[in-house]
Amino acid sequence: MQHNAQLTADNAAQPDAIFDGVDLRRLAERIPTPFHAYSANAIRARIAGLQQALQGMDAMLCYAVKANSNLAILQLMAEARVGADIVSSGELWRALHAGIPAQHIVFSGVGKTAAEIAEALAAGIQRFNLESADELDLLQQMAAELQVRAHAAVRINPDVDAQTHAKISTGKAQNKFGVSIDEARRWFADAARRPNVRLDGLHVHIGSQILGIEPFRLAFARVAAFWRELEAAGHTIASIDVGGGLGVRYRDGEQPIAPADYAAAIRAALGDFTGRLLLEPGRYLVAEAGVLLTRVIRLKHGEGRRFLVLDAAMNDLLRPSLYDAWHDIVPLIDDVRPRHRYDVVGPVCETGDTFAVERELPELHAGELVLIRGTGAYGASMASTYNSRPLAAEVLLDRGRHAIVRRRQSLEDMVAGEQPARHWETA
Ligand code: LLP
Repeated sequence: MQHNAQLTADNAAQPDAIFDGVDLRRLAERIPTPFHAYSANAIRARIAGLQQALQGMDAMLCYAVKANSNLAILQLMAEARVGADIVSSGELWRALHAGIPAQHIVFSGVGKTAAEIAEALAAGIQRFNLESADELDLLQQMAAELQVRAHAAVRINPDVDAQTHAKISTGKAQNKFGVSIDEARRWFADAARRPNVRLDGLHVHIGSQILGIEPFRLAFARVAAFWRELEAAGHTIASIDVGGGLGVRYRDGEQPIAPADYAAAIRAALGDFTGRLLLEPGRYLVAEAGVLLTRVIRLKHGEGRRFLVLDAAMNDLLRPSLYDAWHDIVPLIDDVRPRHRYDVVGPVCETGDTFAVERELPELHAGELVLIRGTGAYGASMASTYNSRPLAAEVLLDRGRHAIVRRRQSLEDMVAGEQPARHWETA
């Protein structure tokens, strides 16, 4: 039995078919495709690697729940003493249910509602990452009503280009996230007007799937300079949250930032900061720990094109449709076959339901298994039931064992809450 947590080709007979000690082909005989499978040990290894790189600093990982919000994944985080970065009361609920202590939870996002702020205050979360003056005022008002003092950080928009896909870039001045340093300066200057908000933190998050260290360096340097300025003006900064954004390897040739280099960039900018550092990695911890198992439904020969129609679709994995994202597509076959260029598509009635265009793959036949790599982050968490396709099952793998951590949605589950319009009322 193989115990490798990474997908490697070290099992000569079945390259790629063994994941965290589990034979994916046998698993797919027991669990109908499509389903997501996650390696617990790959996730543990990522957490440990990052924690190790940060040793010596007072640093805490707050996992960005949006990347993969399955309760079993959140439990792995809780076991490793990783906190949570949440953006909704749904994520708050999940994090608390998975056993992540409220004191390890930070709350980000531009659209926190009054109800969500009330829930987070009642739960006693660690801090709010605030993104607008309106939100700051609302937090003051609500904390005053509850007679508590909320900890808050201001999310700085450092106007740095993360050099990633435009739809996941967040640190440019024109993006909706954070406030300018000028505005943040004013928040601190009149902090006394908001006695129920302890504004003692800075936060920055410039985007996602970042592969170059330079944007991080720039953003951290701007935040560090602002922190020094604030300290000099007599303000106390208890925590600096450097956000998430660490990229992963989706395809050969991509060179992700090593944890040691990332930690070195944090040290270089903030090494003499004596408060608490917070990090909000999402993708880095889970992306490469997940695969999507799917079968070929049929081959279709179009005008000069070969379509490979899979039983997974954009509702199971939206990234290729939404961002033209590359995911490796690996047939689980062990004989050598001629290769062809395929457009790899799902059954959903949209041209955008395409996983890859002109991808060179060995000849495949109906019923054969294919895995799509790198789907542990922003895969299941972005899934929908579009075309009335039930949400796929999710399976956790751990040293040769597997456990279903989300059963495939039944049709009854899918329509739960829907009803014929019987009871008409007027508002
Ligand atoms: N912190 C904040 C405030 C965020 O907005 C995000 C991600 C993270 C942390 C985690 O970023 P990460 O370490 O995962 O890069 N759906 C897109 C990614 C959207 C990311 C949104 N914010 C995708 O599939 O590529």
